Amino acid sequence: MKAMIREPALAPEGLLKIEWVQKHMPILNEIRRDFSERRPFAGMRVGICLHLEAKTAYLALVLKAGGAEVAICGSNPLSTQDDVCAGLAEQGVAVYAHHGCTAEEYNTFLNKVLDTRPELVIDDGGDLVHLLHTDRRELLPDIIGGAEETTTGILRLKAMEAEGTLAFPMVAVNNGACKHLFDNRYGTGQSTWDGIMRTTNLTVCGKTVVVAGYGWCGKGVAMRAKGLGARVIVTEVDPIAANEALMDGFQVMPMIEAAKLGDFFVTVTGCTNVIRAEHFAVMKDGAILANAGHFDVEINKNDLMAMAQSHRPARRNIEEFVLKDGRRLYLLAEGRLVNIAAADGHPAEIMDLSFALQALSLEYLINNAGQLPPKVLPVTREIDLKVASLRLKALGVEIDELTPEQQRYLASWRHD
Ligand SMILES: NC(=O)c1ccc[n+]([C@@H]2O[C@H](COP(=O)([O-])OP(=O)(O)OC[C@H]3O[C@@H](n4cnc5c(N)ncnc54)[C@H](O)[C@@H]3O)[C@@H](O)[C@H]2O)c1
Repeated sequence: MKAMIREPALAPEGLLKIEWVQKHMPILNEIRRDFSERRPFAGMRVGICLHLEAKTAYLALVLKAGGAEVAICGSNPLSTQDDVCAGLAEQGVAVYAHHGCTAEEYNTFLNKVLDTRPELVIDDGGDLVHLLHTDRRELLPDIIGGAEETTTGILRLKAMEAEGTLAFPMVAVNNGACKHLFDNRYGTGQSTWDGIMRTTNLTVCGKTVVVAGYGWCGKGVAMRAKGLGARVIVTEVDPIAANEALMDGFQVMPMIEAAKLGDFFVTVTGCTNVIRAEHFAVMKDGAILANAGHFDVEINKNDLMAMAQSHRPARRNIEEFVLKDGRRLYLLAEGRLVNIAAADGHPAEIMDLSFALQALSLEYLINNAGQLPPKVLPVTREIDLKVASLRLKALGVEIDELTPEQQRYLASWRHD
């Protein structure tokens, strides 16, 4: 079967969504024009596991325009949009996904993508690559390389690299400047609040927001919470990041203290059990819990369930837990990425940058096939600069160029 999707009849709605984002993704539009002429992926098979909504669909179509046969599954059951899947399948992409799929179906979909014997992979969180290194090792000889989208996936790849088990080169797209500076910070910053606000329909101004983790994502989430008028508390485990949060004007304290004060909690650490029983025990009645980190492990749902005398859906994407002392805590989007599971993810203009890095990094892998080590590789400086320059060009923004004298000055150590 070329696709496993829920509702093929939704294709027209999905195609409209893809058309909308396409209008706001000028970098990918330019790459698509170039790929269509040169067809760098002619005859090549690409397997993708990404949040399956409109921006991702457009990336798949850009690769297809470059000649690739593309198979795709969603990286999170709640982020998959069935209409987009239908639209993409109609465009000739092999789509294996539906919204709210079970863990078993998710595994089937990953395997279906791998059944197409991809030569290049794009992963988000590392599940596709993990499967290739465990149950589907027979496919490893076909793989030229891949690219990883997010911080958590890169942590897993680095662990494999350190163990010597990584079998092919993986470009750490997340670590590219045109990814984390914009996607993690401004993308997560905006879309996390979009997800929380559209789900709860509550004010943020005047509330206390606790942000766990002050990395690239946490900086964005905290910055936008402040802009919305909240008092922001940051929790951290890294003394440098904690100092950064202090100098950016936020309060910093351990979670056990912050837990007593917060109206909203947002975890963005990439770590596990960041909010757990001891914290739920001291939270205010009505506190709202959301996660924007990659996996749904940052807020301990088992603890919450064990401490609750009852629970029920309070509203779409909100679960109410009534604790034994009568306090109510609210968990958004099952503790999964709130910006994607309860909203539409990052704005198209942001994903334009991230996915441009993906597309160009895949081309880099085939241009250097067989010559790259099986390691976690950086996005090349040329690709980062190209993507940044394409964006400025699309915006009509010009910048200065170094004069020859300035270049000499910057490259020399002598006082001339
Ligand atoms: N929601 C999205 O759309 C989106 C986008 C990009 C990345 N992510 C994910 O968000 C997570 C964070 O990404 P990032 O790029 O900000 O990572 P990062 O490495 O830049 O920052 C993570 C921060 O969390 C801190 N931290 C770790 N464990 C902690 C703990 N127990 N308590 C408090 N702080 C802790 C670290 O010290 C670090 O400063 C990852 O899982 C990443 O994959 C999500």
